[in-house]
Amino acid sequence: MKGIVLAGGSGSRLYPITQVYSKQLALIYDKPLIYYPLSVLMLAEIKDVLIISNEETIPLYQKLFGDGSHLGMNIQYKLQPAPNGIAESFILGKEFIGDDSVTLVLGDNIFFGDLEFLYKAVKDNKEGATIFGYRVTDPERYGIVQFDKSGRVLSIEEKPKLPKSNYAVPGIYIYDNEVVKISENLTPSARGELEITDVNNVYLNKGSLKVEIIGRGVAWLDTGTPQALLQASNFFGVIEERQGLKVACVEEIAFAKNFISETEFEKLINSIPKCAYRSYLEKVLADYKGN
Ligand code: G1P
Repeated sequence: MKGIVLAGGSGSRLYPITQVYSKQLALIYDKPLIYYPLSVLMLAEIKDVLIISNEETIPLYQKLFGDGSHLGMNIQYKLQPAPNGIAESFILGKEFIGDDSVTLVLGDNIFFGDLEFLYKAVKDNKEGATIFGYRVTDPERYGIVQFDKSGRVLSIEEKPKLPKSNYAVPGIYIYDNEVVKISENLTPSARGELEITDVNNVYLNKGSLKVEIIGRGVAWLDTGTPQALLQASNFFGVIEERQGLKVACVEEIAFAKNFISETEFEKLINSIPKCAYRSYLEKVLADYKGN
């Protein structure tokens, strides 16, 4: 299973910061936004990740993550010259995906809670596609799933004016290798983009789309506006302060998931400047050693 983080886009709603770099580098409490979706792939035990972004931001991601080897990962980068839509990820990532399946996470999507369902869905998706449904109050902003009375999926509509349910499709999608061909055959939508909803409808029409409902124990947070960024920062500030545990700390996850050994973890910690983030990782290591 390969992983893709799509982390480009124009982010015009977050001007002026997005004049300088893409919004996935904006700070959510104590770390850049992209740490959150990247950590979701890591929790699903995906080690091969392609980060897709624009020309200005790729060098900054490279500075943050390098080739990923310090995290026991293989992280590569691909340019998306213009924001041509989410489904373009699979065309840009064709070579990287090779013959494998692929999980795509949008670089501005944050998930928090028990994410075991995701790990399971990634492992179980041998063919076809698995996407998710999450209840929201503003369905006209998202891809929306329509169900019949028995819970069967009837349609998925992109930003419908008259939404047929409150179940939005969050930005995490699991596909078999077919997704590359499907994306190559798409035509751009009215807004000029290759729509992920069109990909999902192809799978739905062939009877190979699974939609799993994410329950109320999991938070899916929006990051599209300054208010939403502040709310997400406050949310994680509260949780991290209360528990003394960090969310989406990629170094900790790499160690916990055995992507790196104890010695490598120690080396990684020593490469971080003295700061609260480093002290936290030192404590994780000390706890592990039983000090
Ligand atoms: C995109 C997708 C939409 C999905 C949403 C999740 O919307 O097109 O189906 O529900 O991401 O964040 P966009 O970011 O293009 O508004």
